[in-house]
Amino acid sequence: MNHNIIFQKIETVDLADVAAIEQQCYPNPWPIKTMQDCLDADYQCLKGLTELSPEIRCYAFMMIGHEEAHLLKITVHPAHRKKGLAQAMLHRLTLIARINHARKIWLEVRTSNDEAIRFYRRAGFEIKGKRRNYYRYKDHNGKQIKEDALVMCYSLI
Ligand SMILES: CC(C)(COP(=O)(O)OP(=O)(O)OC[C@H]1O[C@@H](n2cnc3c(N)ncnc32)[C@H](O)[C@@H]1OP(=O)(O)O)[C@@H](O)C(=O)NCCC(=O)NCCS
Repeated sequence: MNHNIIFQKIETVDLADVAAIEQQCYPNPWPIKTMQDCLDADYQCLKGLTELSPEIRCYAFMMIGHEEAHLLKITVHPAHRKKGLAQAMLHRLTLIARINHARKIWLEVRTSNDEAIRFYRRAGFEIKGKRRNYYRYKDHNGKQIKEDALVMCYSLI
């Protein structure tokens, strides 16, 4: 577990930096508008950084509904992976979900995203199903891509 990380709310002023990390990390990065919508909807939007530097090392977006939370994404900057940052972020999100009376945390993940699936399984998420062609996006060459999502769930009770 990484103990030096500080979690803060993502603000609009952070979104350009978050978007730059998105571009590096996803074949289907979120546009700034989607992230701003999450802020406007008062979702849990967290960034992780250290006291030493204001640079964003990881971030997450989570929506909390009636007795359930939906983890929309958790991302760690490529330069800061395999140091327990995602684990620390997930721990924080789990606490927030519990405080808000969520009984489960649900998420979707691309079926080809082995690293994330391994991370979530190790954290205790179970695979509950598959959504066919859930992701539709254009790759760097403009080719239309369709990819299935695994639906995973973590029980908080
Ligand atoms: C998936 C992702 C969030 C994991 O982030 P991370 O910070 O590297 O995750 P952690 O460090 O908590 O755990 C990853 C691995 O590092 C290991 N690790 C953790 N702390 C460590 C340390 N101090 N030293 C060495 N290894 C360590 C963990 O045991 C784990 O090993 P495993 O892959 O064999 O299970 C990251 O790869 C990512 O951002 N991917 C791109 C975005 C993405 O796809 N997100 C999911 C969208 S749904």
